[in-house]
Amino acid sequence: MLIRPRRLRTNQKIRDMVRETVLTKNDLVMPIFVDENLKDDEKTPIRSMPGQFRYGIDAAVNECVEISELGVPAVILFGIPVEKDEFATSAINEQGGVQKVISKVKSKLGDDLLVIADVCMCEYTSHGHCGIIKGEEILNDETLEVLGNIALSYAKAGVDIVAPSDMMDGRVLKIRNVLDQNGFKNVSIMSYAAKYASAFYGPFRDAAESTPQFGDRKSYQMDIGNSKEALKEIGLDINEGADLILVKPALPYLDIVKMAKEVSNIPVGGYCVSGEYSMIEAAAQNGWIDREKAVFETLLGIKRAGADFIITYWAKEVANWL
Ligand code: PBG
Repeated sequence: MLIRPRRLRTNQKIRDMVRETVLTKNDLVMPIFVDENLKDDEKTPIRSMPGQFRYGIDAAVNECVEISELGVPAVILFGIPVEKDEFATSAINEQGGVQKVISKVKSKLGDDLLVIADVCMCEYTSHGHCGIIKGEEILNDETLEVLGNIALSYAKAGVDIVAPSDMMDGRVLKIRNVLDQNGFKNVSIMSYAAKYASAFYGPFRDAAESTPQFGDRKSYQMDIGNSKEALKEIGLDINEGADLILVKPALPYLDIVKMAKEVSNIPVGGYCVSGEYSMIEAAAQNGWIDREKAVFETLLGIKRAGADFIITYWAKEVANWL
């Protein structure tokens, strides 16, 4: 007897009925760039990420309202400050752009939108690295102090989840302790557990003005050839108290997403990063690819690999399609 798998592909109804993986609005998290250099109601396009913008404070809040109305459950905020220094001092300014957007969005939307804030120094340092430096060395333990303070200032503003993306050792434990000691036991930690030293962050660094001024991030972000090491990082972060973990980038690391989902008993997210976004946008602009289909297939692939949720610059738009 000939086995005929094609029977289950005969028409759209049967294909829909037996599809194993389904993308829903609830899977999506939308990144937002808050730029303190803009007027409050202003937004400006990001050259390297067609269709994406940097927002002034009120423009960011309005964008969050629209995103929430579309049924996307969460945003993740990144900040571009007016002033940068060696110690990322402006990141802990209680009147900083991210802090202001957190408190405005939470008072406006309450539980209708989860607000996640990326915790990292690189957008706030003059040298563009994700830590305190000494010469050309990135110091681990000194950096933890700053990360704890950044997370605390977001917690004070009312953030739901802090997301450390720096890859310093011990940051989850440090942040958990600082939050708990200050009465923020209910603020969750989403750690970028397996974050690779990837070329795919290029457009983001343009967007967030966070390109390192010397060297690269290879002494803290993971080597692109490693997968066992991802298990080690994931295990450490879970033990230190992470509530959710991320794999980043997503597409070139779908094996890691799958592994992470298998080994972890907490939710796993995939971060479909700026380079993944811009690649498809560029191909689409050239007429080389069907944009909508390619976007949908990309996100479905990340979910099929095992992601419980996906951080994607397409979140707002895709929510409109679903
Ligand atoms: C900050 C940070 C980066 C991204 C998220 N958080 C840049 C980097 O590590 O260089 C990249 C996100 C993207 O490319 O979409 N450390």
